[in-house]
Amino acid sequence: MRIAVGADHAGYALKERIAARLRKAGHDIVDCGCHSEESVDYPEFGAAVGRAVAGGECERGILVCGTGIGIGMAANKVPGIRAASVHDRFTAEMSRRHNDANVLCLGARVMDAKHAEEVAEFWLGLPFDGGRHERRVGKINALD
Ligand code: RB5
Repeated sequence: MRIAVGADHAGYALKERIAARLRKAGHDIVDCGCHSEESVDYPEFGAAVGRAVAGGECERGILVCGTGIGIGMAANKVPGIRAASVHDRFTAEMSRRHNDANVLCLGARVMDAKHAEEVAEFWLGLPFDGGRHERRVGKINALD
C-alpha cells in the first residue's frame, strides 16, 4: 500500500520508526516531513498528508504529533479526509470499521513507541464494515 506519513518535531522519531517498520513490511512510504526534531508547526504536515491522500497519491496517511490531536485537526480540514486520533487497538479498529478513517493520528507523548508502531500496522490491515456505517460516513463526507 502507498502510505503518506507526516509528523511535527514531537512526532518525528516515532514517524521514522513507523515508516521503517512499514517499509520493511513492503509498503511504499511517501514521507511528507518533518525531517528532524527542530521545532515546526504541525498544521503544515497534517495538511500535506491530507492532500496526498485526498488527491489520490496515497491510499492512506499516518500522522504523529505530541498528542495526535492537533495534526489530525489540520488533516481533517482537507476535504475527503477522515483523520482519527487513536490511542490503542480498539480505537484504531473502530476508526476503520465504523468511520472508514483514511488517516491515522498517533500521539508520541501519549503512547509507548512499540505499541504505536503495532497499532499503525494493525490499522492498515483493517477493513471498513460498510452497511449501516455507509450512511453515517456519507453524512460526514457531505459536510466537506
Ligand atoms: C507540540 O509541542 C505539540 O503541541 C504538538 O505536537 C501536538 O501535540 C499538538 O496537538
